[in-house]
Amino acid sequence: MQTPVLFVTRRAHFNAAHKLFNPKYSKEHNEELFGKCANENWHGHNFDLYVTIKGRPSEDTGFVMDLKKLKVIIEDEVVVHLDHKNLNVDVPFLKDVLPSVENIVVAIWNRLAPRLPEHVKLHKIHLIETINNSVEYYGPDTPF
Ligand code: NI
Repeated sequence: MQTPVLFVTRRAHFNAAHKLFNPKYSKEHNEELFGKCANENWHGHNFDLYVTIKGRPSEDTGFVMDLKKLKVIIEDEVVVHLDHKNLNVDVPFLKDVLPSVENIVVAIWNRLAPRLPEHVKLHKIHLIETINNSVEYYGPDTPF
Protein backbone atom coordinates (compact mmCIF):
# COMPACT_ATOMS: atom_id res chain seq x y z
CA MET A 1 0.00 0.00 0.00
CA GLN A 2 1.30 3.44 -0.91
CA THR A 3 1.72 5.92 1.91
CA PRO A 4 -0.92 8.66 1.94
CA VAL A 5 -0.49 12.13 0.46
CA LEU A 6 -0.19 14.70 3.24
CA PHE A 7 0.03 18.45 3.51
CA VAL A 8 2.67 19.89 5.83
CA THR A 9 2.92 23.52 6.85
CA ARG A 10 5.79 25.56 8.19
CA ARG A 11 5.31 29.06 9.58
CA ALA A 12 7.75 31.93 9.20
CA HIS A 13 7.57 35.53 10.23
CA PHE A 14 8.94 38.83 9.01
CA ASN A 15 8.40 42.52 9.63
CA ALA A 16 8.52 44.86 6.70
CA ALA A 17 7.51 48.29 5.50
CA HIS A 18 5.86 49.21 2.24
CA LYS A 19 3.51 51.59 0.57
CA LEU A 20 0.99 50.94 -2.14
CA PHE A 21 1.58 53.47 -4.85
CA ASN A 22 1.29 53.22 -8.61
CA PRO A 23 3.55 55.77 -10.30
CA LYS A 24 1.20 55.80 -13.32
CA TYR A 25 -1.23 57.84 -11.24
CA SER A 26 -1.26 61.14 -9.38
CA LYS A 27 -0.79 61.34 -5.62
CA GLU A 28 -4.53 62.07 -5.27
CA HIS A 29 -5.58 59.10 -7.36
CA ASN A 30 -3.19 56.83 -5.45
CA GLU A 31 -4.78 58.00 -2.21
CA GLU A 32 -8.18 57.18 -3.67
CA LEU A 33 -7.04 53.72 -4.71
CA PHE A 34 -4.97 52.74 -1.70
CA GLY A 35 -6.12 54.95 1.16
CA LYS A 36 -3.81 54.88 4.16
CA CYS A 37 -1.63 52.31 2.42
CA ALA A 38 -0.49 55.02 -0.01
CA ASN A 39 1.08 56.99 2.84
CA GLU A 40 4.17 58.54 1.31
CA ASN A 41 6.45 57.75 4.23
CA TRP A 42 5.62 54.04 4.40
CA HIS A 43 3.91 51.89 7.01
CA GLY A 44 4.75 48.50 8.44
CA HIS A 45 3.26 45.08 9.01
CA ASN A 46 4.12 41.97 11.00
CA PHE A 47 3.72 39.35 8.31
CA ASP A 48 3.03 35.71 9.03
CA LEU A 49 3.92 33.34 6.24
CA TYR A 50 2.58 29.78 6.05
CA VAL A 51 4.23 27.52 3.50
CA THR A 52 2.41 24.26 2.79
CA ILE A 53 4.05 21.41 0.93
CA LYS A 54 2.47 18.21 -0.34
CA GLY A 55 3.99 14.76 -0.42
CA ARG A 56 4.11 11.24 0.95
CA PRO A 57 5.83 10.51 4.25
CA SER A 58 9.08 8.59 4.04
CA GLU A 59 8.90 5.08 5.45
CA ASP A 60 12.22 5.65 7.18
CA THR A 61 11.50 8.97 8.90
CA GLY A 62 7.71 9.35 8.82
CA PHE A 63 8.32 12.84 7.43
CA VAL A 64 7.04 14.29 4.17
CA MET A 65 10.08 16.54 4.34
CA ASP A 66 12.57 17.41 7.03
CA LEU A 67 11.07 20.66 8.34
CA LYS A 68 14.50 21.86 9.44
CA LYS A 69 15.44 21.88 5.76
CA LEU A 70 12.23 23.61 4.76
CA LYS A 71 12.87 26.20 7.44
CA VAL A 72 16.33 26.91 6.00
CA ILE A 73 14.95 27.24 2.44
CA ILE A 74 12.26 29.70 3.59
CA GLU A 75 14.85 31.61 5.59
CA ASP A 76 17.36 31.81 2.72
CA GLU A 77 14.93 32.52 -0.09
CA VAL A 78 12.41 34.75 1.65
CA VAL A 79 12.91 35.85 5.24
CA VAL A 80 16.46 37.24 5.00
CA HIS A 81 15.41 39.26 1.96
CA LEU A 82 12.22 40.70 3.45
CA ASP A 83 12.65 40.92 7.22
CA HIS A 84 13.13 44.50 8.44
CA LYS A 85 13.21 45.72 4.83
CA ASN A 86 11.30 48.26 2.84
CA LEU A 87 9.54 46.14 0.23
CA ASN A 88 9.36 49.01 -2.26
CA VAL A 89 13.07 49.75 -2.33
CA ASP A 90 15.22 47.10 -0.60
CA VAL A 91 14.29 43.84 -2.28
CA PRO A 92 15.76 42.98 -5.70
CA PHE A 93 13.14 40.32 -6.43
CA LEU A 94 10.34 42.85 -5.81
CA LYS A 95 11.88 45.49 -8.05
CA ASP A 96 9.14 47.12 -10.15
CA VAL A 97 6.51 45.08 -8.29
CA LEU A 98 3.74 46.90 -6.44
CA PRO A 99 4.12 45.21 -3.04
CA SER A 100 0.51 44.26 -2.34
CA VAL A 101 0.08 41.05 -0.35
CA GLU A 102 -1.07 39.41 -3.58
CA ASN A 103 2.09 40.31 -5.46
CA ILE A 104 4.34 39.38 -2.54
CA VAL A 105 2.72 35.96 -2.31
CA VAL A 106 3.38 35.23 -5.98
CA ALA A 107 7.00 36.38 -5.66
CA ILE A 108 7.47 34.10 -2.63
CA TRP A 109 6.01 31.13 -4.54
CA ASN A 110 8.39 31.76 -7.43
CA ARG A 111 11.37 31.73 -5.11
CA LEU A 112 10.41 28.67 -3.08
CA ALA A 113 9.00 26.31 -5.74
CA PRO A 114 12.32 25.66 -7.51
CA ARG A 115 14.15 25.07 -4.23
CA LEU A 116 12.08 22.18 -2.93
CA PRO A 117 13.32 18.59 -3.21
CA GLU A 118 11.86 16.50 -6.01
CA HIS A 119 9.75 14.28 -3.78
CA VAL A 120 7.53 17.16 -2.58
CA LYS A 121 5.45 19.84 -4.27
CA LEU A 122 4.71 23.33 -3.12
CA HIS A 123 0.97 23.36 -2.39
CA LYS A 124 0.11 26.73 -0.91
CA ILE A 125 1.58 30.04 0.21
CA HIS A 126 -0.53 31.85 2.77
CA LEU A 127 0.62 35.33 3.72
CA ILE A 128 -1.12 37.15 6.54
CA GLU A 129 -0.68 40.91 6.54
CA THR A 130 -3.11 41.66 9.37
CA ILE A 131 -5.53 39.47 11.27
CA ASN A 132 -8.17 40.72 8.86
CA ASN A 133 -6.25 40.51 5.58
CA SER A 134 -4.45 37.57 4.05
CA VAL A 135 -3.85 36.01 0.67
CA GLU A 136 -3.47 32.36 -0.35
CA TYR A 137 -1.80 31.20 -3.54
CA TYR A 138 -1.87 27.68 -4.97
CA GLY A 139 0.51 28.33 -7.86
CA PRO A 140 0.33 29.37 -11.50
CA ASP A 141 -1.71 26.35 -12.62
CA THR A 142 -4.71 27.18 -10.43
CA PRO A 143 -7.82 27.24 -12.64
CA PHE A 144 -10.17 30.19 -12.38
NI1 NI B 1 0.19 47.78 4.06
